[in-house]
Amino acid sequence: MTSIDNNTGVERIRDHVAAQLTRARRRSQSLTDAVDEHDLVRQHSKLMSPLVWDYAHIGNQEELWLVRDVGGREPVRQDIDELYDAFKHARSTRPELPLLGPAEARRYVGEVRDKVFDVLETSPLEGRRLLAGGFAFGMIVQHEQQHDETMLATHQLRAGPPVLDAPAPPRGGPVGPAEVLVPGGPFTMGTSTEAWALDNERPAHQAHTAPFFIDTAPVTNGAYVAFVEDGGYADRRWWSEAGWAHVRKAPLVAPRFWEKQGDQWYRTAFGVTAPLDPDQPVVHVCFHEAEAYAKWAGRRLPTEVEWEKAARHDPASGRSRRYPWGDDEPTEAHANLGQRHLSPAPVGAYPAGASPLGVHQLIGDVWEWTSSDFRGYGGFEVFPYAEYSQVFFGPDYKVLRGGSFGTDESAVRSTFRNWDYPIRRQIFAGFRCARDAAPGELG
Ligand SMILES: [Fe+2]
Repeated sequence: MTSIDNNTGVERIRDHVAAQLTRARRRSQSLTDAVDEHDLVRQHSKLMSPLVWDYAHIGNQEELWLVRDVGGREPVRQDIDELYDAFKHARSTRPELPLLGPAEARRYVGEVRDKVFDVLETSPLEGRRLLAGGFAFGMIVQHEQQHDETMLATHQLRAGPPVLDAPAPPRGGPVGPAEVLVPGGPFTMGTSTEAWALDNERPAHQAHTAPFFIDTAPVTNGAYVAFVEDGGYADRRWWSEAGWAHVRKAPLVAPRFWEKQGDQWYRTAFGVTAPLDPDQPVVHVCFHEAEAYAKWAGRRLPTEVEWEKAARHDPASGRSRRYPWGDDEPTEAHANLGQRHLSPAPVGAYPAGASPLGVHQLIGDVWEWTSSDFRGYGGFEVFPYAEYSQVFFGPDYKVLRGGSFGTDESAVRSTFRNWDYPIRRQIFAGFRCARDAAPGELG
């Protein structure tokens, strides 16, 4: 019986992997098929790679891990490994490399994928830690989806007429009080059981917080305009030393892609300029801007521990959930994920996705800056290689949580940790605020 059960389990993982690989590839193709050859090879911003680099890099990582390592097969194109090694060439220099052209890149990733389906059929999906639960395949699915979000950010930076199209997000709605009290005490942070969780999400451990208040929803464009109009960008009081140096030097005067015409603020997204929607979460702000807004509002950013507690802790059972709404995989009723829409949804658009305490839109819409540096949890173990997370640990990077409208559901969980430099604005990042609870507010 056990072996039959195991076989069914392995078959189920194979089917799941195959479906996820196919879904990721469909997205990579639509993001690259949307533009002509010239737009595929040119650099739309010094911050980004040419789209054709991302595309071939997706195939090269897949070849390294699944064809060569898991499959033990002969290399498809060993000669190009160096070109597509993200650690060897900064993004700004990638257009000068002798990259594969669009047709060659498409042929290469297709050839790799054919071999990967063959490897998937014959791989035991057990025996080595890299194979257990299909981890190596899950890592490659997430890698492709992460590059699909990066390519979407490249589309946002691209000049010219719009080439992407998607339905508008659902309408907003009521979210109740502006903030909710999260009780103090322990909860389970991180995971040791989620099969495709990355090394930096592990292991599950007990973390503590004092009681705190967190915003029910991300900070909106409307709220952020008040900070801008109050002269927030020119007022030293709201900025950290590093933030003030950056805001002066850059210089920054409003979120990226905002522009004021007369009395009206406009936002340009994927080639379309439209009046700012005051009810959508603000997006394309850096950590310094998020931190300055919070200080101006008499609040602060949540720590990463607080964010995860707000997203997972169920006070009734004391258990940590996989998602704010429970353990079920995200659906379109829960969260704005997967590039289904090309913007964050207005506040209150996902009541079914709220946490037990009534915190909305923690997953999807915008990545949320936290005040925490990116570090390994106690008991952290490098897996499967140091360049995945460990080399980024330290004070240079801030943690972002929750995923954006551009993030695929396979590449975000309530335990998922993203990180970036505090000056980054091309990512789909916003934030929500928190504050300490005073002794008299504990109910
Ligand atoms: Fe990569």
